[in-house]
Amino acid sequence: MTAAVAGPIVLVGAGNMGGAMLSGWLKSGIPGSSVIVIDPGPSERMMALIGDAGATYTQTAPADLKAGILFLAVKPQVMDAVLPGLKGLMGADTVVVSVAAGKTLGGMEVHLGSAAMVRAMPNTPAMIGRGITGAFANDKVSAPQRDLVHRLLKVSGPVEWVQSEADIDAVTALSGSGPAYVFYLVECMAEAGRKAGLPADLAMRLARETVAGAGELLHQSPDDASILRKNVTSPGGTTAAALSVLMAEEGMQPLFDKAIAAARKRAEELAV
Ligand SMILES: NC(=O)c1ccc[n+]([C@@H]2O[C@H](COP(=O)([O-])OP(=O)(O)OC[C@H]3O[C@@H](n4cnc5c(N)ncnc54)[C@H](OP(=O)(O)O)[C@@H]3O)[C@@H](O)[C@H]2O)c1
Repeated sequence: MTAAVAGPIVLVGAGNMGGAMLSGWLKSGIPGSSVIVIDPGPSERMMALIGDAGATYTQTAPADLKAGILFLAVKPQVMDAVLPGLKGLMGADTVVVSVAAGKTLGGMEVHLGSAAMVRAMPNTPAMIGRGITGAFANDKVSAPQRDLVHRLLKVSGPVEWVQSEADIDAVTALSGSGPAYVFYLVECMAEAGRKAGLPADLAMRLARETVAGAGELLHQSPDDASILRKNVTSPGGTTAAALSVLMAEEGMQPLFDKAIAAARKRAEELAV
């Protein structure tokens, strides 16, 4: 760890996201001995990971400990019940990092007091180290602390810092919820393939691998999505015929505008 952190990384909540982060930290060379995991009942797999890494496990916050990083990965619904029990972990240099959807910095300050805090929004592909995270730091986070948090978050993929906390709602709507839009795209493509005469299981395999392969091509290629699209669209061809529907005035763009606006509105409503 760097000089920016005065104490251990305390991970609260070792479920899907907390587990993915812990696993990424260990792979990136952060010593398990610098991590303390608090969770009332982690899975056997998680307990094995904690044990193998030499990290410390506890069901509740130790009384005599100050955290360097307090990394919150519990469900938003339990946050208000969990935070009061963590107040004792707050030292003068503790940085709080929350990945909980909809939980505002103001809402956390009610329980933890005024502190250096980061609100981050990863997404599900973090589980395979292929997520992307949007993050906002309040003005109490120093540059070295922000660098350290960046290092912790980037184990699950790239990290994009936003300038206002409100932008986290838009990040949630776009990349936080985004993987579900892509999974639904696979479902829609498969169903359209079935209606075009293919057996349902074949249509699903074709749709699934098309989206996965196109995603990997996008990941590996230096070209923009629009260039990759144009590269496979011959004038007057089959792709152009489909795109004339998808890119029509009432095609995908207005649909996505509405979908993302709805998700952003919901994120604002959930914010506490
Ligand atoms: N999964 C995602 O893709 C994703 C994406 C972006 C953000 N997030 C955020 O990440 C957070 C965690 O989500 P998740 O999917 O990882 O949920 P999860 O799998 O349910 O993990 C939450 C963990 O917290 C534990 N927990 C419950 N009460 C606790 C307490 N008092 N102290 C310590 N740990 C406690 C839970 O234990 P029990 O199971 O025993 O209750 C569970 O192991 C959420 O706030 C979510 O908004 C998740």
